[in-house]
Amino acid sequence: MIVDEAKKELSLQERDGAIEEIAARLGARAERGRRFAELTSLRVGGAIDWVISPVTEEQAAAVVYELDRAGIAWRALGSGSNVLADDAAHHYVVVSLKELKGEAHFDGERVSVSAGYSLPRLCIDAGRRGLAGIEGLGGIPGTVGGALWMNAGAYGHEIGNVTESVRVAREGRVVEVPGSEVKWDYRHTSFREGELLLGATLHLRPDDPEKIGARMLEAKNKRLATQPHGARSAGCFFKNPPGSSVGTGKMIDEMGMKGERRGGALVSPIHANFIVTEGEDAKAADALALAEEIRERIRREKGIELEYEVELWRAEAPKESPESGAESPESKTSEESESSKESEESSGLQTPDSRLQTPKEEKR
Ligand code: EPU
Repeated sequence: MIVDEAKKELSLQERDGAIEEIAARLGARAERGRRFAELTSLRVGGAIDWVISPVTEEQAAAVVYELDRAGIAWRALGSGSNVLADDAAHHYVVVSLKELKGEAHFDGERVSVSAGYSLPRLCIDAGRRGLAGIEGLGGIPGTVGGALWMNAGAYGHEIGNVTESVRVAREGRVVEVPGSEVKWDYRHTSFREGELLLGATLHLRPDDPEKIGARMLEAKNKRLATQPHGARSAGCFFKNPPGSSVGTGKMIDEMGMKGERRGGALVSPIHANFIVTEGEDAKAADALALAEEIRERIRREKGIELEYEVELWRAEAPKESPESGAESPESKTSEESESSKESEESSGLQTPDSRLQTPKEEKR
C-alpha cells in the first residue's frame, strides 16, 4: 500500500515535470491552480491540474503532440460556454484555446481564422465586410473552434455549411482538412477525440452589409426575447429530439418545470431548455441533478430519451496507460449520442490511445 502510494506520488511528480518541460520548451504558458468555475460560463466545476495556453496554431499542434507522446491526458477548452465540468479535481491538462485568436484574415469571399477567435466577433467582422452566411450565429458566446467542433447553429445558419477547410493538429503539425470530408450533423461532427481543431477557412457569400446587419439585429432581438441574457448558462442543455415536432424547451415548459430548482441551479424562467446557476455555492452537481430530473420526467411522461447538448466533463483521474498494464476505458457509447457545443467550445479528454473516457463518450 505504502509502496503503491509512493509510486503514484512519484509518477504524478514525473508527469508534472514533463508538463513543465514541454510547456517551457515550446514557449507556452502553463498554469496551476485554475478552476472550471472560472473557465466555464456555468461558473461551476472543480480544480484543474494544469492549464496550457498556446498562442499560435503551430504551438498548439506541438503541445498536444508532445503531451500525447508523453502519455499525458488533455482536453481542449474554448470559452467554456458549452461545458459542465464536475466539482471534483480534474487530473489532466486543459489546453485552453482562448489565446489562440490572432487576426481574422479576409481574402475576397473567404476568411481564415484561428480556433480561439470569438464567434460573435467574427460574425460582426464578416457582416461589416458584406459577407453573409454566419449572421445567425452572432449571439453564440463561443469560440470558432468550439463552434466547428459541434457544428454550432442558430437562426437558420450552421457553421459547417460555410466551412471550406478546417485546420487540425496531426503528428505535431497543422493539417488542412477539406470541409467536405467532415460530417456536419445537428450539433455534431465527425471530429474525433484526440483531434485538436486549430482554425478554419470559411467561404461566405457577398451581400449588402446593411441587409446582413438587419438580419443580425433580428436574430439578436429574437434571442434577447426568448433566451436568458447575462445569466450563467451553457445555452440549450439538451438537443431537440430528432423527428419530434415539439422542441425540448417547449416540452420542459409544458411540464411546468420553469423555475424548478436544485441547490444553486434552476430551469430558466425564460427558456426551459436553459439551466442557469446562481450564487457562490452553486455546484455542478446541482445542475446535473436538475438535468437528470428533467430527463427522467421526459422519459416517463413522453417516452423520449433526451440527449445532452452540453458536454459533461467528468473528473476521473487519468488511468495508467495500457503499456503499463492498466485497464482500458469504459466502453464507448454511441457517437450519435454526442451533443457538442463544447464546445464550444471545443473538444474532450484527449489521449493518444483513447484510454480515457471522453466527453463525446460521456454524453448521454
Ligand atoms: N418554447 C416554449 N417554452 C420555452 C422555450 C421554447 O414554449 O421555454 C417554444 C417557443 O415559443 C417556440 C418553440 O418552443 O415556439 C421553439 O423555441 P426556440 O425558437 O427558442 O427554439 P429551440 O428549438 O428551443 C433552438 C436551438 C437554440 C437556438 C434557437 C434559435 C437547440 C437545442 N436549440 O432552440 O440553440 O438558439 O433554436 O435558432 O437546437 C444552443 O445551441 O445552445 C441553443 C440555445
